[in-house]
Amino acid sequence: MLRTLLIGFGLTALAFTDPGMAAEKVHLSVDPSKTGAKIDRNIFGQFAEHLGHGIYEGIWVGPDSTIPNTRGIRSDVVAALRALKVPNVRWPGGCFADEYHWRKGLGPLDKRVVTINSNWGGVTEPNTFGTHEFMDFIDQIGSESYISVNVGSGTPQEAAEWLEYLTTNQPTALAKERAANGHPAPYKVGYLGIGNESWACGGNMTADYYLSQLKIYSRFVRNYNPAQEGKRQMLKIAVGPGDANTEWTENIMKAYRNREWSWDINGLSMHSYTVPKWPPSYASVGFGAAEYSRILHSTLQMENQVAKQSAVMDKYDPAKKVALVVDEWGAWYAPLPGTNPGFLVQQNSLRDAILASLNLNIFARHADRVHMANIAQMVNVLQAMIITDKEKMVLTPTYQVFKMYLPFQDATFVPVTFDAGTYTNDDIALPRLDAIAARDASGKLWLEITNLDPEQPTEIEAELAGIQVKSATGDSLTAPKVDSVNSFEAPNAVVPKPVSAKVQDGKLALKLEPKSVTVVALDQ
Ligand code: AHR
Repeated sequence: MLRTLLIGFGLTALAFTDPGMAAEKVHLSVDPSKTGAKIDRNIFGQFAEHLGHGIYEGIWVGPDSTIPNTRGIRSDVVAALRALKVPNVRWPGGCFADEYHWRKGLGPLDKRVVTINSNWGGVTEPNTFGTHEFMDFIDQIGSESYISVNVGSGTPQEAAEWLEYLTTNQPTALAKERAANGHPAPYKVGYLGIGNESWACGGNMTADYYLSQLKIYSRFVRNYNPAQEGKRQMLKIAVGPGDANTEWTENIMKAYRNREWSWDINGLSMHSYTVPKWPPSYASVGFGAAEYSRILHSTLQMENQVAKQSAVMDKYDPAKKVALVVDEWGAWYAPLPGTNPGFLVQQNSLRDAILASLNLNIFARHADRVHMANIAQMVNVLQAMIITDKEKMVLTPTYQVFKMYLPFQDATFVPVTFDAGTYTNDDIALPRLDAIAARDASGKLWLEITNLDPEQPTEIEAELAGIQVKSATGDSLTAPKVDSVNSFEAPNAVVPKPVSAKVQDGKLALKLEPKSVTVVALDQ
């Protein structure tokens, strides 16, 4: 099957059909002379909501915990996330954000106001992880803050005061309060989310109603940090569509085109989960090739979602000034038996690693419009990087993929041409292969290839136009089963292993294991 997303690139196919052959052979060509857009490091962003054990236990254990921590933030999780070079973290929600009142998360920990997390299990929210704790966490992991302000049940004034509290260096009452709470210097807020899913949990607003709110918040919620002037300014992200809703996008983008000087946005959010059935009913573990195929087929719809929304945005913003920000994506499965269904607890398997690579590749191919994405969610919730259980921590297969993709952060996209072939399971047909290439800041070329086929290996013969490759080395991630996971008992069941590729006559020969994700550097 010729992947539609490859239309526009010339294709050379070399399909071996001899049934006796162990591996399909695929010819792939990379043309480094034709470069594309920068793959913004922000597409590797994360999302941390006050939901289940996403924050409490996953990140925050409190300064008195026996779990090693720095000012209440667990050290093992920080070390793991530092290694991922997380570019930005979206917080405090999600649906939670539109009921969050920032003042409740200030002051001495034992005096914090306890509230109810009405969105997620109706449990108590201790508010011990508030503004200062989040900014400390961001600093500890070396990331940037993406703060989602409350449009649904808050006011523009509340949001404006939050941003003044965070960012001003003037001696205002709010700056003095921040200093009294332990942080005299202004914080940096990289990204501002103006509401969340305002068409649903964020207040069931019509697009017109939301637009009037957007204009007010965009005008009055200011960042005062002098270090964020000019190129370093805070980017404002409006609520965008969920999945296929282009009408919402039309409304916002049309208003953007006709906007007055007094308001602006830099991004439009899009939420698109891999959830073939609602409520989520697919199991996150204990499945075979059929469910593996169905989920991957469903995740590939991201290509259509992004293309559809981008087309509408192109109409009103041909200069591509407004980024499409896919700030909630990932697999959403049935809650694990025995867990609180409101906590969205699921396992994370090799299938999720492959799913992550397919989505990251889609974002990379749309790098001219998609400048940011946030997988849902960072720790213990949905498609997590990290799973904890009290003092124990394990890194998921999805974490491993994000680590393998580090060279693609801020690299320049390079087109790859290949015939993906087809893997079929019942009525589901999947491309057998996916691939992207990019050049990093040092000039090194990187190639990522995903073999979706759960049964057959693939032999790649890669040609690099105009350059002589001497060797290629990197890592490959696979495991015995499509639902193999990393557990506390066996944390290294799904971890990348080194691979190297032979180079003959300037061509690279690389064998890909079934159901694998491979990233190699091409040494010239
Ligand atoms: O990520 C879980 C929830 O999914 C978020 O809170 C919400 O924005 C979305 O519907």
